[in-house]
Amino acid sequence: MGKDADTDYVEVDELEKVPHSEQKKWEKDQMASAVFKFGAKDAVKKDEYELVLEDQIEFIQALQMPGVREKKEPELSEVEKKRLTIEETKKSLPIYPFKEDLIQAVREHQVLIIEGETGSGKTTQIPQYLHEAGFTKDGKKIGCTQPRRVAAMSVAARVAQEMGVKLGNEVGYAIRFEDCTSERTVIKYMTDGTLHREFLSEPDLASYSVMIIDEAHERTLHTDILFGLVKDIARFRPDLKLLISSATLDVTKFSEFFDDAPMFQIPGRRFPVDIYYTKAPEADYVDACVVSVLQIHVTQPLGDILVFLTGQEEIETCQELLQDRLRRLGSKVKELLVLPVYANLPSDMQAKIFEPTPPGARKVILATNIAETSLTIDNIIYVIDPGFVKQNHFNSRTGMESLIVVPISKASANQRAGRAGRVAAGKCFRLYTAWSYKHELEDNTVPEIQRINLGNAVLMLKALGINDLVHFDFLDPPPHETLVLALEQLYALGALNHHGELTKLGRRMAEFPVDPMMAKMLLAGEKYKCSEELVTIAAMLSINSAIFYRPKDKIIHADTARKNFNHLAGDHLSLLNVYNQWKDTDYSTQWCYENFIQYRSMRRARDIREQLVGLMQRVEIEMVSNVTECVNIRKSITAGYFYHIARLSKGGNYKTVKHNQTVTIHPNSSLFEDLPRWVLYHELVFTTKEFMRQVISIDSRWLLEVAPHYYKPKELEDSTNKKMPKTMGRSTRTE
Ligand code: CDP
Ligand code: MG
Repeated sequence: MGKDADTDYVEVDELEKVPHSEQKKWEKDQMASAVFKFGAKDAVKKDEYELVLEDQIEFIQALQMPGVREKKEPELSEVEKKRLTIEETKKSLPIYPFKEDLIQAVREHQVLIIEGETGSGKTTQIPQYLHEAGFTKDGKKIGCTQPRRVAAMSVAARVAQEMGVKLGNEVGYAIRFEDCTSERTVIKYMTDGTLHREFLSEPDLASYSVMIIDEAHERTLHTDILFGLVKDIARFRPDLKLLISSATLDVTKFSEFFDDAPMFQIPGRRFPVDIYYTKAPEADYVDACVVSVLQIHVTQPLGDILVFLTGQEEIETCQELLQDRLRRLGSKVKELLVLPVYANLPSDMQAKIFEPTPPGARKVILATNIAETSLTIDNIIYVIDPGFVKQNHFNSRTGMESLIVVPISKASANQRAGRAGRVAAGKCFRLYTAWSYKHELEDNTVPEIQRINLGNAVLMLKALGINDLVHFDFLDPPPHETLVLALEQLYALGALNHHGELTKLGRRMAEFPVDPMMAKMLLAGEKYKCSEELVTIAAMLSINSAIFYRPKDKIIHADTARKNFNHLAGDHLSLLNVYNQWKDTDYSTQWCYENFIQYRSMRRARDIREQLVGLMQRVEIEMVSNVTECVNIRKSITAGYFYHIARLSKGGNYKTVKHNQTVTIHPNSSLFEDLPRWVLYHELVFTTKEFMRQVISIDSRWLLEVAPHYYKPKELEDSTNKKMPKTMGRSTRTE
């Protein structure tokens, strides 16, 4: 602090370089030198501290304790002085001085690796530079992939704005289930998954002159597979320019992969970021975030705050807590705008995070990992990092995939901290101890390809005619057993024959931009004559965000409303009920409001549904309805998800059939109190234990009907034929 920001660049990890032996002393010194003491919390006893929070006056007084509150009044921050016009902003970006060099490098080399600090202008500027330099003259497009939907959409919106065009015209984006481009589009942002799909219809990417694989460091499954695909086509399309763009992480690996492609480095511009750790581990990091935000707000000069949380639910909880406490503080504190950002946030809400903060106010952004490198939000001075991220994890031994919250890597932690030093000197508050940073965090995040189910990716590669997956050019190969398991699963689903070749069914499955299990379920609608219902269920399962709304002050009403949709057979059918009733009201907003249903989620479900209907027509499946036959609907679901079967065991728990893993019905499920003997689940979520989310009851005999090659009658025998008492084991379940 107090260093001249323009001349003194300090690496964020400066503080971590202290030898372990000096750890304690160093930690103490760091804390002592900080004006804002994160350890202030320890100055009062824990329970007193909580009391303070509950009482606004005491809270304010506590913050005004000497040594806690900074004496000088917050002045107009550096950030506020720096508000620029679009043109000025473009020119102020670190990439700008290198514009001509960059264009020249692209002209000279077919493949270029670009490395630059997050926020240096790679994503928004490079496509514009190349467009201006004439790379779109011959009617070809510049493509740019993003690992995340929100990033693709918001970056496209930003670039359209910078170019003064309407989004969807010259500048557009394409994400799963949504194509916002037109004939006129010359700059196209898309998710990496979308480009992966485009290979199916255009294997040589003929309509592109430049393809930018952006955020390469994120190493998502699709990005990793794209590396192999684009490397291959670059060989027989010498006119295609390939740019691999990455935040500052180890990029030599990318260069080596692309036959020693030259690296173009955009020199970083990063102001010093002071890093603070908590003295002791935080039991409840959401609460710790709330406390930290308020402390920063009351004690620190203006400048926006960025908080990293793991998902929508957590963000909403944090938002509610914050707003509740702010309300109680009333006019005693300056205005604090609380803005969430996560993958499923509607686009009008997303735009808000980029709006300038009103003068004198402060913005706090509650974000998922998306704000780590994909989205650059200007004017962040403070970062709060609880140190967790939600990841998909696949256990190749059990074949189970589950969403779990895991500690981030050191590389991630440093990226997060870096968000605070983009426009001025900043501060990063890590809600974990310095010890755990040093000793518990892994150095780097494991690439997705090495930790998730590859069913979908393998199906796509097979559909592209790539049969020999073992020798596919992977940047980092997936574990052999995961690959084998994916092949086995596709074989069991009937997508591959015993030579490992794509079957007719597999080809049809590959048409759907969904998990192979869901694709198989949709295709089963043909045999079981319920395609209408299946498409609705698939759409409802795909929206992936909350459908039911549960305001704190109306929990009972909301829960009653929700129960009215419950279907005896389980959640998939309850979701079908919700959709059909909504449809019967002609998609009314009012109806959603009255029934505590999120209108936005429903609108998205309707869009997805329309797309799926289109795809069903493409694979020539007639849309037919079979409302009376819920058995057929469930059989179709089972035809896709026969891997996800569990049988009731002791204490209200379930065991998965093939691997005997213990799983439990999620308390939100309509079957939570019923405990049917056999259930099918849509997904597993690990919180306190493995919960099955979206569950239906099935008849085990259906498994022999829909997956005779996978199940043997013996596996499905019931050891007891007694029906379990309804209340059994309830007390052991918590969440
Ligand atoms: O890709 P990279 O991280 O290098 O930077 P970028 O995403 O191109 O961001 C460059 C600038 O554009 C930053 O100052 C962002 O704040 C701004 N930007 C924005 O205002 N709105 C967006 N939706 C995306 C970027
Ligand atoms: Mg970027």
